[in-house]
Amino acid sequence: MNPQPLKPIKNPRAKHDFQARTCSIRAVGSYLPARVLTNADLEKMVDTSDEWILARTGIKERRVAAPDEATSDIGAKAAARAMAKAGVTAEQIDLIIVATVTPDMFFPSTACLVQQKIGATRAAAFDIGAACSGFIYGLEIGQQFIMSHTYDTVLVIGAEKLTAIVDWTDRNTCVLFGDGGGAAILQNRPNAHGLLTACMRADGRKGSLLCVPAGGSRCPASAQTVANRLHYLRMEGRETFKNAVQAMYSAGREALARCELDVAQLTCVIPHQANLRIIEAVGERLGVKPEQLFINVHKYGNTSSASVAIALDEAVEAGRIKRGDLILLLVFGAGFTWGAALIEW
Ligand code: ACO
Repeated sequence: MNPQPLKPIKNPRAKHDFQARTCSIRAVGSYLPARVLTNADLEKMVDTSDEWILARTGIKERRVAAPDEATSDIGAKAAARAMAKAGVTAEQIDLIIVATVTPDMFFPSTACLVQQKIGATRAAAFDIGAACSGFIYGLEIGQQFIMSHTYDTVLVIGAEKLTAIVDWTDRNTCVLFGDGGGAAILQNRPNAHGLLTACMRADGRKGSLLCVPAGGSRCPASAQTVANRLHYLRMEGRETFKNAVQAMYSAGREALARCELDVAQLTCVIPHQANLRIIEAVGERLGVKPEQLFINVHKYGNTSSASVAIALDEAVEAGRIKRGDLILLLVFGAGFTWGAALIEW
């Protein structure tokens, strides 16, 4: 049977007979608030100790944003640094994707607030909710627009002010998190593979293990929810730990298998910086050598969606990654969500 001919309507999507093009990270940038909160500071706030925090998490200190500094401010500063390194102007940006669990407010999106701050008036802007996995989700989404020739320049940001949703009376969680932001400029770079593959995974059955229970449509804010401290982050640490190790390991294996690459060919492996024990367990299971593993959790704690973006920027700045090197990013977070991105830098 012959297919029906297309109706004579102008369809902008059908006008090009193009081949998908590759997508590279042109540059990354990051921003960390100046204020440092050490384990010794936390000893004065809750019943904890530097020894416990260091032994169980590897964290020595974390950054805390100023009271008048919100996630969009953090994201905009990281974006400005990435744009300067990439030599990209605000007018060139076609799309802004912000990954965050700590938006400035429900709406407008943090991406729209960043758009205003950096003056990217042409750019479309939206947020994504994939918790600590948000940066890789953002890279994968942004890549689709570059590959399909829809956009030429995409700005992906992971930014958080987690100290705004941490319960400072709960020693189980308050020692773990910090504030910060990282950003990447995505473009096609001729003769480069760039983002080779990205796996995005989720298991919504485990959503209640790591969440902020109130403030949304399920449990709107009330005097009772505030009194019950339901607007703060809650986590089943042990269960999250086990899932994080298994999930990042399997996503890493999947990404490597898709590209028929071996872990020994990687210059750098950057796992989500939540806990040194998780990072080392994932590294060990994947067969990563200590010199391949990038770690900065001791300085910043868990910065959720910003974590691998900040680490990637630091690894590049430190000369650990050069153009042409193969790198693997691994993420895990609330949802549960997880993923991996294999990149030819
Ligand atoms: N100081 C002293 N003691 C503490 C502290 C603290 N800050 N926190 C907990 N303890 C106590 C507990 O109360 C418990 O005491 P008990 O045995 O008397 O009940 C004991 O220490 C041991 O607690 P565990 O939960 O077994 O400690 P564990 O070794 O699992 O470490 C931790 C806890 C650090 C939270 C770990 O489970 C972890 O890192 N989990 C994963 C976090 C993660 O990966 N998150 C990623 C996603 S985050 C996101 O998406 C926003």
